Amino acid sequence: MTRAITLHDVSKAYTRGVRVVDRLSLDIAPGEFLVLLGPSGCGKSTVLRMIAGLEEIDEGRLFLDGEYGNDLPPSDRDMAMVFQNFALYPSMTSRDNIGFPLRIEAPGTDPAPRVDATARMLGIEDLLDRFPAQLSGGERQRVAMGRAIARHPSAFLMDEPLSNLDAKLRNHLRAEISQLTRELGVTTVYVTHDQSEAMSLGDRVAVLRGGVLQQVGTPRAVYSLPNNVFVAAFIGTPRINLLRGLVRAPLDGAMTISLGKQFLRLPEPLSLDHQLLRVQQGREVIVGLRSEAVRIAKPAAARTGEVALTGLVEHLEFQGHEVLVHFNTGSSPAVVPELEAPRPSPERQARRRRREGGTVLERLRERAGALRAGSVATLDEPARPDGAPASVEPRVAGDLIVRTTPDIRLRHGMQVPLLVDLAHLFVFDQHGERICPNPDRLPGLEE
Ligand SMILES: Nc1ncnc2c1ncn2[C@@H]1O[C@H](COP(=O)(O)OP(=O)(O)OP(=O)(O)O)[C@@H](O)[C@H]1O
Ligand SMILES: [Mg+2]
Repeated sequence: MTRAITLHDVSKAYTRGVRVVDRLSLDIAPGEFLVLLGPSGCGKSTVLRMIAGLEEIDEGRLFLDGEYGNDLPPSDRDMAMVFQNFALYPSMTSRDNIGFPLRIEAPGTDPAPRVDATARMLGIEDLLDRFPAQLSGGERQRVAMGRAIARHPSAFLMDEPLSNLDAKLRNHLRAEISQLTRELGVTTVYVTHDQSEAMSLGDRVAVLRGGVLQQVGTPRAVYSLPNNVFVAAFIGTPRINLLRGLVRAPLDGAMTISLGKQFLRLPEPLSLDHQLLRVQQGREVIVGLRSEAVRIAKPAAARTGEVALTGLVEHLEFQGHEVLVHFNTGSSPAVVPELEAPRPSPERQARRRRREGGTVLERLRERAGALRAGSVATLDEPARPDGAPASVEPRVAGDLIVRTTPDIRLRHGMQVPLLVDLAHLFVFDQHGERICPNPDRLPGLEE
């Protein structure tokens, strides 16, 4: 049997007034593989522990297969948890470690058949008589998985189970976990701060920031239609380019977005999507360009929907199969605070919430979810009338990263023509919420 898990407006505070999980609602279908993704300290483990019953739920409700489950003891939830730090008993062999929960749950029943079947499934038959100290990290993790699987639970709760392993083993076990949980068809909630792990494993990915759910959707949906700049920047490598822009929509001229010294001219007639930007006239916005939205090519080579920019080569990152070119285009990057400084203290979050929750209007907006956990982006300083921002954030190298093939010969300091595909243009408002693309205006964009 596999479980449906529903969280309804669930909150948790360890210190009074500081919610580390803030009104989280999630519907996890039976057999689904859901990944909880977010930076360190955003509340992922707390959510998992509340589902497991290891942490009390302060507010809100948990339903297991539709039944109210807040007060159900962990032992009655029929879930198996796999932790980051393996948590094997050092004085027991792998066989006893795997069989231990079975002996507790059904005393008097011989655990051997299930232990053997699980070991076969995980390919660890030869390791059954060894103690944890005689196993490698990857082997220990497999034994820990075995202990969870042998119980035939109705849900797996996995808290960064692979983060102690090296990259190669992580990839290998990742594939194994994916295959196993699918074969078993057991509902799985998997916690990670690694976006590529989340994207490759999850049926759906739930992105958390400061205890607040930002978005939940298929990996494809969160990548192609991020709700806000935080999700856009957290998902995808290289990280999406986020530039400060200024919308100009004169009544008698073409609509443009200034990017410091250069601008993007939106093609006429304006698409339905770009028409949404008209109301932003004179306002600062955040332009999001994933590396696939920009290519190195002369203006003459522009296809429909492409517009020209130029960039100064500041840095080249050779990756073997491709090169990441860092350009300076004269624009300034928008800052996503939690990503630059991954662990805001709860006290700082509380201060910020108090500050931002001040006026009636702000409280209403907060209720609507727009400002919970604070504004996603910072555009503290207004742009100067000429479109150039008042101050330029210090940056390591360039404001725009573009992918290219290694055969293109580029040198530091070269001025290079670029083409931006406006079909891949993201625009976010001052608070970091997405304006376009807008799926309501572009049917078919959402799966
Ligand atoms: N028992 C506790 N008492 C007080 N604060 C806690 C406790 N457990 C967690 N916290 C705080 O709650 C917040 C969320 O913690 P949590 O462990 O859920 O984060 P996480 O997303 O799992 O982070 P990581 O990726 O680092 O494991 C953090 O600010 C943490 O310091
Ligand atoms: Mg954690």
